[in-house]
Amino acid sequence: MLKPEIEDGTRSFADPAFRADVLAGLTRRPRAIPARWFYDRRGSELFEAITDLPEYYPTRTEIAILERIAPEIAALAGEGRAVVEFGSGSSTKTPILLRAVRPSAYVPIDISGDFLRESSRILSAAFPALLVLPFEADFMHPLTLPRTIATTPKLGFFPGSTIGNMTPLMAVDLLRAMRGSLGEGALLLIGMDRIKDADVLVSAYDDAAGVTAAFNLNLLERINRELDGTIPVDSFRHEAVWNDDRARIEMHLMTQRDVSFDVDGRRFSITAGETIHTENSHKYGPRDARILLRSGGWTPIAHWTDPEDHFAVYLAEAQAERPAP
Ligand code: AVI
Repeated sequence: MLKPEIEDGTRSFADPAFRADVLAGLTRRPRAIPARWFYDRRGSELFEAITDLPEYYPTRTEIAILERIAPEIAALAGEGRAVVEFGSGSSTKTPILLRAVRPSAYVPIDISGDFLRESSRILSAAFPALLVLPFEADFMHPLTLPRTIATTPKLGFFPGSTIGNMTPLMAVDLLRAMRGSLGEGALLLIGMDRIKDADVLVSAYDDAAGVTAAFNLNLLERINRELDGTIPVDSFRHEAVWNDDRARIEMHLMTQRDVSFDVDGRRFSITAGETIHTENSHKYGPRDARILLRSGGWTPIAHWTDPEDHFAVYLAEAQAERPAP
């Protein structure tokens, strides 16, 4: 998720896609900038800090579930599969799975080559006998995986409830793309955050120490740094709201006064109380999760939760399509 910044000594050159998304997002109504742009170096550090917050239950809950169920996953998946992780891999979650399933290869896929190489280097050091095949690509589209693992059965891994950051339409597209990449007969181990009490959800995204607020506001600072912006960041406030109709936490940046500023030479004015929508984090009840998986071409075969049912991990299979009645 980390994007490299290219410095020329005075100012950094931005990714053209970042410029395009920011300019379009500030122009459209409602204003919205894709959440993927949170993760510059500072944003990635702040996200790491979020995962340790007392209010942010998903990371530690999912890790505890994975540790508990690792032997069961190994029994269901069998040894020798190629583990294909969508994203660069976390130093905590990935080793739990790799230790349990003893894969023949590990293929982390990420659009950011720098982050991919760094996490692959750390993993290779921890698992010296494992064949690690980093794959730089956008996993939102079906991919032709390295030839070495063409005939090896696959186990996809998509932890963290990252699927929740996509709208249901995008989530289904991604699941279908994963099926296309991994092939029929593959398994997918995927984390999904559950719908729960709105207070628990809102405080997970609006913590007392203000780390999530800093994470959200860093997007404006990034715009100022990389796109010659003059956004008065102090005039914006972090907001996390539960949208019950869409079963998602929404993060916004709300202006507390009328503001005018420049970005990349273009002038923008935002009136007090208006927001820039920066992230969705969809939550899935048991039935919703199963429907989502099936819509994306995956048949759920097992799932596990924590005692409070705050988070769920699903194992699903890309079964052959049966003719519909
Ligand atoms: C990366 N993703 C799953 C996180 C989430 O919970 O939706 C991002 C995040 N945003 C604020 N806090 C955490």
